[in-house]
Amino acid sequence: MCGIVGCVGHGVDVQETLLDGLASLEYRGYDSAGIATAGETLSVVKRAGELDALVAALEDRDAPLDGPAGVGHTRWSTHGPPSDANAHPHTDEAGRVAVVHNGIIENYQSLRDELEAAGVTFASDTDTEVVSHLLGRHLDEGTTLEAAFRETVARLEGSYALAAVARGADTVVATRSDSPLVLGVGEDATFFASDVPAFLEHTREVVYLEDGQFATLQPAGWTVTDADGSPVDAEVTTVAWDPEQTGKSGYDHFMLKEIHEQPTALRQCLSGRVDELAGEITVAELDALDSFGSVQLVACGTSYHAALYGATLLQQQGIPAQAALANEYATAPAPRRADTLVVGVTQSGETADTLRALREARGRGATTLAVTNVVDSTAARECDHALYIRAGPEIGVAATKTFSSQLIALNLLADRMATSAYRTPRDLVAALRDLPGQVQTVLDDSRAASVVDEYLDRTAYFFVGRTYHHPVALEGALKFKEITYEHAEGFAAGELKHGPLALVTADTPVFAVVTGTDEAAQKTIGNVKEVEARDAPVVAVTDGQSDVARYADHVLTIPESHPRTAPVLANVQLQLVAYHVADRMGRSIDKPRNLAKSVTVE
Ligand code: F6R
Repeated sequence: MCGIVGCVGHGVDVQETLLDGLASLEYRGYDSAGIATAGETLSVVKRAGELDALVAALEDRDAPLDGPAGVGHTRWSTHGPPSDANAHPHTDEAGRVAVVHNGIIENYQSLRDELEAAGVTFASDTDTEVVSHLLGRHLDEGTTLEAAFRETVARLEGSYALAAVARGADTVVATRSDSPLVLGVGEDATFFASDVPAFLEHTREVVYLEDGQFATLQPAGWTVTDADGSPVDAEVTTVAWDPEQTGKSGYDHFMLKEIHEQPTALRQCLSGRVDELAGEITVAELDALDSFGSVQLVACGTSYHAALYGATLLQQQGIPAQAALANEYATAPAPRRADTLVVGVTQSGETADTLRALREARGRGATTLAVTNVVDSTAARECDHALYIRAGPEIGVAATKTFSSQLIALNLLADRMATSAYRTPRDLVAALRDLPGQVQTVLDDSRAASVVDEYLDRTAYFFVGRTYHHPVALEGALKFKEITYEHAEGFAAGELKHGPLALVTADTPVFAVVTGTDEAAQKTIGNVKEVEARDAPVVAVTDGQSDVARYADHVLTIPESHPRTAPVLANVQLQLVAYHVADRMGRSIDKPRNLAKSVTVE
């Protein structure tokens, strides 16, 4: 999983455009970066490390890289460790072509063996380098860059978004298979990237390339052709995202900005979908959805926690539902009734594990629905139906606002799927209406920043909750561990006594989510007493309806709300807990070590 970017045109500063694009794609990988520009000559500069290392190397040169065509890459290692040699772009031996790639070439070893047997010397450990050598050899046969690229790609198996430039050509050629690639159509230049924000400051007019399509970008314009070389009448669409949305807007980190964007994100998710006067929820995207006897939700990481919440929600509506980790489902799909809907919950819509699970489900005849943030993402395009969560771009690697929007989108889905006798409860409609404002209240009043000061450098951190709050406990722990690098675990509160309680000591803070006064709340308070008796510090995240505060060392308060919306509010407090601990510890909050945002490898 990496980010690729490119542009062609005399109307832009190519080097600067590539670097700006890479900066906005760094969330996709950040262990090395490089750019190449082409025209009469071909120049390549690449460095291990974050983008700053590449910028410094370019600044050390006498002049910017020259040429109207350019490609760039930010890497998340799959084949070979981060190093200058393994960084993209990769060239052929003659230094005539430069290639950038996101994905995995599955047959690279046999291609490498073949090339080495023919006398080619490789300069890196990467799978990508086979592409540059093949391309160079096809060019040696005297064909055009486009024809050579097409012949090269025909030899590849695996997943790829690929782009190449060559000495002597003011052209970028690009294609995709199972990896995202989008063109940006500007007035003086044409762009491409793994994701729209990379060129959003230049244009909002985009073309989403389909698997197997090829794009040729030149100063005079762009064309898209299909696998056979026939021209495609590619549709240009306008994205609604604003360039401002992809900056930090004064916040120290994208994660904090995105936590604070949640009221807006939720309003966008609900807009036009909840009619308060009629007391109805209507989601146009779901109009064509048949009725189903059962639902399977497949997802990874944070989205899996949303899927767990969605499954509980559907079960409470009387619909048999289960959530599965997409990576497990892909290799061992759960048994499916004939009338099962398989729902992929995926912020990016590009997560390889989730795409694979959805393809597996479709292959077995299931109807599929993508619940995703990214319009026209692979999941959205491949599924029978798509429900957009409308959270806006999320740049921080740790998912925050998109989790909240996923929970609310899943409410809309559960409502749509309920039996014909079901009527949307008025109190749910009111709770959804009030939610954005209540999230704002949590953001304004949260004491998380001061509470966490007492709990830095503990041995471990535990998070517990029941029913709807169980996924919140899991998510609280995931967010905490991924950005603080401290050991954190989430448990169903009732599970503590079945083993994890052995870990609980005076040095392990326990964050307990308790709202309302129902049986789940009472039983969780019982579990809180168990950890308190083991001297563990307790932080209660509560709406104050129960007496959990009596057993807690600290309280993080949320407004009273509906049982289905309370998890969103509780989770905001836990996002802030994770953020402030990571901030105090000086962690790399937006780009935690070893992680990347869009995991496009299985
Ligand atoms: C954690 C996080 C990841 C993603 C997971 C799935 O903060 O962001 O766990 O949730 O990689 O990604 P999507 O939702 O894009 O499929």
